[in-house]
Formats: sequence, C-alpha cells, structure tokens
Amino acid sequence: MNGAGRRASSGPSIQKVPTKPRAAAFRRASGAVFVARARAMGINNSRPRGDAALIDGKAIAAAIREEIKAEVDALKKAHDGRAPGLAVVIVGARKDSQTYVRMKRKACEEVGIVSFHKELPETATEEEVLDVVRGFNADDACHGILVQLPLPKHMNEERVLAEISLEKDVDGFHPENIGKLAMKGHEPLFVPCTPKGCIELLKRSGVELAGKNAVVVGRSNIVGMPAALLLMKADCTVTVVHSKTKDPRRICREADVVVAACGSAEMVKRDWIKPGAVIIDVGTNGVDDPTKKAGYRLVGDVDFENVKKVASQITPVPGGVGPMTICMLLSNTLESGKRAFAA
Ligand code: GUN
Repeated sequence: MNGAGRRASSGPSIQKVPTKPRAAAFRRASGAVFVARARAMGINNSRPRGDAALIDGKAIAAAIREEIKAEVDALKKAHDGRAPGLAVVIVGARKDSQTYVRMKRKACEEVGIVSFHKELPETATEEEVLDVVRGFNADDACHGILVQLPLPKHMNEERVLAEISLEKDVDGFHPENIGKLAMKGHEPLFVPCTPKGCIELLKRSGVELAGKNAVVVGRSNIVGMPAALLLMKADCTVTVVHSKTKDPRRICREADVVVAACGSAEMVKRDWIKPGAVIIDVGTNGVDDPTKKAGYRLVGDVDFENVKKVASQITPVPGGVGPMTICMLLSNTLESGKRAFAA
C-alpha cells in the first residue's frame, strides 16, 4: 500500500518534503545539481531534510472562506439581498467560550452571513435556554443555530442539542444527524465542524483516504467519534484509541493517518508514528512557558517537534485544524441557507 502521505500533484501550495522513490534518491544525494533537478520536477527541497510538510490550515481556511463569501454574494443577488443567518447562543461567562463565539460572529460578518447573538447568565435555567432555541427554530431569518458547549453543569446538554431543529443543526450534534453519519445509506444534513475540517484538510492536501489505516485518538462526541465515522465513510479502516486502550503506541504505529483529539498535551510521541504517516492534530492545550508574554503557549495533542521528523505531512498548532472549525461552520450555515432559499 502506498503511504497515505505520498504526495499528490494537486495539493494546496504547501511545501512538501519529497517521499517518492525518485525524491528519496535526491534526498540521499547532495549538491546543487540535484536540488536544481528536483525543483525542475516540482519537488521543493527547501525544507530541512526529513521534516514533514506543514498542512497550513490557516491558508486553506482563508481560501475556503473566499469561496464561501462568493457563494453568499451570489445567493444574496439571487434572493433580494437575503443572506443566510446563524444564531449563536452562549450560556455563562467562560473566557474560552466567549472568545470562540466572538470569532464565530466575526467570521460570519466577513463572509456576509448574518449573525444573531443570545447571551444567557450562568444561572439561567435549562428551560430558558430551550425557549431561546425554540425562538430561533421559529425564526425564518435564521438558518443555523449553535449552542456553545460546554453548557453549565446543571443543564442537560443532550436535551438542549436535541431541541435544535434538524434543519438548523449546523453543529451536526443532533442525535439524528449523528445517527445518519453512522449509518450506511444515510447522509446527515450537517456534519460536525471540527471533524469535517479535518477531512477537508486531508482532501485539500492530496491525501488519498480509501483503503488507508486511520487511527483516531480520542472518542469525544464533538471530535473523536464523528471523525472516526467520517473516516469510515471515506473508506478508511478505522481504529479508535481511548483512555482504556491497551498499548495505544502499537495501534498508532499501524496508522497511515492519525487524527489526535484526546485533549492531552503532546501525548502522541514520535515512536507512535509510522514513517510517512499524515498527522492531523486537533488539540489545543495551554502549557506554562515563562518565555512568553502570556506565560503560556499552545501545543497540540502531538509532540510536534519530534513527530514532524517521521511524518510526511502534519498540521501545526496553532494554525492547523483550529481555523478550519469556524470555516466549516460557515460552510454548514451557507448550505442550510441554500436549502431554505431553494424550498
Ligand atoms: N465547544 C467546543 N467546540 C465546539 C463546537 O464545535 N460546537 C459547539 N457548539 N461548542 C463547542
């Protein structure tokens, strides 16, 4: 089987380390003549030898946002200036949630999607949140509803998510959408944004998925579980590694594609990775770093500095999966708007 990280000729404009046999010969060789010949063949040798190519989520997300903006503009022209609308509901005052919500609203604005905002205090009751959701369900100007998670502990998250109208479930968390994601012969109306972003990164980086071994590290409802289902839909052979898995290193070493979403800083080490594997790192963990002004820095679930020495392609943190999540939310909202306008 070819390594999943074998280069495709039509990936995004990412500098990739050669992994083809002829490129390997160039790597072994030294001297300008080989470098020049490799460049003439479209192989970029400017990276330090042996390092994985970066999957630049920031650049890919920017390109997708442009595509979405163009579609929103066209939709508005065709429908008397009406644009898709997204309602974002936040309960409580978690700083991280507030930041995410602010970013989501800003991203909407940038592509011409109308955003509605509802903020409730930490002390709100579940019934009050349900009422807000019901209000947006009934609002024709709103095509997508997102309730920022986590909700305060006294609320039943499942009940709130299940209240969101199936046609407006742009997060893809409604049990019926998740159920359809899991079933052959069914398609969900929406796919959860972060896993959808992971698959999009793989596709746009020229990674062939059919027949490949994929390992997902983590089984959360938001990322790990739907990512595994999506990889299965893409004809991968999928294994999910979780907190009770025996010998995760041995299982990961079989993977052509690793999606790390365990929420544990730099847990996936170099000796977990098969040479040439493609690594998608969903983690964003703050670790103390007195050299930084903020006193901390963000790292992923993958030991990036060491893993990049054996992988063929890898997402950085930040700048990998992160920018894709919001982008996929915009994409789902656009899709929902198009369906509503076509009805
Ligand atoms: N909290 C963390 N990630 C997400 C997400 O993708 N959607 C929602 N609604 N809440 C989140």
